[in-house]
Amino acid sequence: MRDSLIFYVNGMRQEVRGESVFRTLSDFLRKELGLTGTKVVCAEGDCGSCTVLLGRFQQGRWNYDGVDCCIQYLFQIDGMHVITVEALSEDGVLHPIQQAMVEHFGSQCGYCTPGFVMALTALLEQQIPFNREHVELGLTGNLCRCTGYQQIFEAAFSLDQKSLPKVSERYRNKEMEKELEEVILSPAVVQASSFSQPGDEKSVYLPTTVSEAALYRAEHPQARIVSGGTDVSVQVNKGKSDFKKIISLSHLKELDFLENNDATLSFGAGVNWTELERYCKSNLPEFHKILKVFGSPQIRNAGTIGGNIANASPIADSLPFLLVTDAVLELTNSTGTRHVEIKDFFKGYKKMDLMPGEMIRSISLKLPEKNDIFRLYKVSKRKDLDISSFTAGMLLSLNQNRMTKVRLAMGGVAPVALRLKKTEDWLNGKDFSLDIMKQAGRKAVQEISPISDVRASKDYRLRLAENIFEKLYYESNPQPTAYSA
Ligand SMILES: Cc1cc2nc3c(=O)[nH]c(=O)nc-3n(C[C@H](O)[C@H](O)[C@H](O)COP(=O)(O)OP(=O)(O)OC[C@H]3O[C@@H](n4cnc5c(N)ncnc54)[C@H](O)[C@@H]3O)c2cc1C
Ligand code: FES
Ligand code: FES
Repeated sequence: MRDSLIFYVNGMRQEVRGESVFRTLSDFLRKELGLTGTKVVCAEGDCGSCTVLLGRFQQGRWNYDGVDCCIQYLFQIDGMHVITVEALSEDGVLHPIQQAMVEHFGSQCGYCTPGFVMALTALLEQQIPFNREHVELGLTGNLCRCTGYQQIFEAAFSLDQKSLPKVSERYRNKEMEKELEEVILSPAVVQASSFSQPGDEKSVYLPTTVSEAALYRAEHPQARIVSGGTDVSVQVNKGKSDFKKIISLSHLKELDFLENNDATLSFGAGVNWTELERYCKSNLPEFHKILKVFGSPQIRNAGTIGGNIANASPIADSLPFLLVTDAVLELTNSTGTRHVEIKDFFKGYKKMDLMPGEMIRSISLKLPEKNDIFRLYKVSKRKDLDISSFTAGMLLSLNQNRMTKVRLAMGGVAPVALRLKKTEDWLNGKDFSLDIMKQAGRKAVQEISPISDVRASKDYRLRLAENIFEKLYYESNPQPTAYSA
């Protein structure tokens, strides 16, 4: 069993043991390696100034994504190659992306600049065109307080992408590739012994199969699962949680699959939002609409669907979709596997139907049918990079204007995201008319119990829950009647 983490930074091998495995990558880069080009501002994944490229070598090819390294802990990057802003210039000559930022006045105080440069470099690595749509989306995770975004966009638009050198090409190295391929196939336990009090050892375990993970969790049921870390690491950085015993899922290939068989979609709990977004773009545009504004590219490259469900937030953006598509969770521990419908999974605020040592292995759901009316809604204070105040999912079939198979879900209106069973039952068999939908809205508010918090007031949430039915009606009817009345 390996007892150290192995990864590379700008082509240089790093081997880490002991308490350092619990450092953030940003801290390690800046304080251990002196790579201070990577900046830290918010330390919670919100500003992008700490963006680096994270490379995974799989099946003979590299894939580089931009991530916020302030919420990536070192144990999460075992077996990967990190590229920082220092790697961009060569022999004192700036990379064309950096040069364009200079020429187009894309920087004033400069604190956010390395993050913007790295976010653009991530687009280049992914061969995503530098046009307005993609650059705006690609930079949603990066905040600048003084320059203004127009100059940064102009810097990007000025570049002839085809002529730009990919930074990752400079680091093609057979020895590194061979070693990293082996690392992700070899389980590791790393002890942070110098931190430890007897009985309170800190350690991280990196299994490579689900059965290894299940056996470990049987012995250490209190071990905290970390998948993409975009929820857990923020809690740790804010001092609201601590890492003691960790089990990191980053090497579990079994959790990283997506299969579409006829009307069923199944995927592993470790599938990240970028992978789902790619699939949904052409196959599930309604869910894609939600994923496009889920966090930022840096968050979507790290965060997983399993983490979103198991974080058990009532405003998690995946839940209305999973609830209306009757998703079933496959849960596993060392004693076996069972299946639980997602509508029964949440038992109360942050309480789930998870037995000791159990983890979410996969999710499967029934895809909406071609002629179904299917809508997902996310209401937040701002469009991009914001947590929802209210979410909803609505799915129904129409048979000669009669509603059947009505499925309604809402988030942000109760301690858990929930199906509105009474309103569903009332709607089934009724005509799809404006009057009926308005009545349904009034019934729905009796099934929910929203509270006021920093994101929205109770009254606002009640109003949203009621009016969303009318919205669904207008959006699904080519000729709205109310406006002509
Ligand atoms: C800046 C920012 C923006 C965000 N924007 C959004 C947004 O727009 N919408 C939204 O819904 N969320 C958002 N989030 C929250 C977060 O990104 C998502 O909830 C994400 O899907 C969490 O996945 P993860 O893999 O990072 O989870 P982790 O942080 O690794 O884990 C979250 C929880 O799930 C548990 N867990 C993880 N995997 C499993 C498993 N397989 N089985 C059992 N338990 C497991 C962990 O123990 C932990 O308790 C945002 C977060 C940040 C920092
Ligand atoms: S420092 Fe703000 S995202 Fe990392
Ligand atoms: S240049 Fe100052 S924050 Fe962007």
